[in-house]
Amino acid sequence: MGESQLRVPLLAANWKMNKTVGETLSFAGAFIPEVQSLLDSQDPWPEILICPPFTSIPALSSALASYPVAIGAQDVYWQEKGAFTGEISPLMLKDLGCRYVIVGHSERRHVIGETGELVAKKVRAALDAGLKPVLCVGETLVQREQGDALKVNADMTREGLSLVKREESSHVVIAYEPVWAIGTGKEARPDDAAEVISHIRETVDSVYGGNASEDVRVLYGGSVKSGNIRSFMTREEIDGALVGGASLDPVEFARLALTVLRARPDRRAR
Ligand code: PGA
Repeated sequence: MGESQLRVPLLAANWKMNKTVGETLSFAGAFIPEVQSLLDSQDPWPEILICPPFTSIPALSSALASYPVAIGAQDVYWQEKGAFTGEISPLMLKDLGCRYVIVGHSERRHVIGETGELVAKKVRAALDAGLKPVLCVGETLVQREQGDALKVNADMTREGLSLVKREESSHVVIAYEPVWAIGTGKEARPDDAAEVISHIRETVDSVYGGNASEDVRVLYGGSVKSGNIRSFMTREEIDGALVGGASLDPVEFARLALTVLRARPDRRAR
């Protein structure tokens, strides 16, 4: 494998609608000392990403400015600017120092009603602005019980990537988050997560041809905590985690980062 095939593990926090600016600054103050050894290294491994609410992005960006921790947003609109009341554009996120943006999270698809078509436009807009989209896919419990999990995730992956060119695909991160595992305390079995993620990779390969998926990081998300992250990270198929509830506590999130480091100590192409 060449240099481009190196998939750096990614530990991503999705704070959802949690934390005021004051609480964000307290988190930063407590988190940094817990992961100092990891952040001191020249070559941060794993990559750590925090996606706070829009309102906390400037404060978190300044608090973490001298540390290798990436900041992202939880959503984005697909236009650069204009009469779109209440929306935030990719350029605005870039301007605040964001490097990533979560797109198509299940709460946006299922609670707010975002369609796959909108998700694809947001992925496109993020890339146009130089942001890396974290494209979320995942089946509902009914879909899993009906035996449709692989197909649903393949379809969501194909649709989410429909406006992405092959040469851009390595900038997309895919997060497999079964809807029934999010915020429920019921994580997927690592074997099941690995099976879906392998299928997502095959789908990426079928979209672009060849082995494009070798450059695309695919994360698992859904009730990840320090007590179970190792069982996901020791699977070759899984490149990291998108963490909701357990990312809100700085000590727990630091434990997650250190566990990923121990589970994936490699710094060279596998
Ligand atoms: P959870 O959320 O870790 O609280 O299950 C994950 C997510 O929604 O990204």
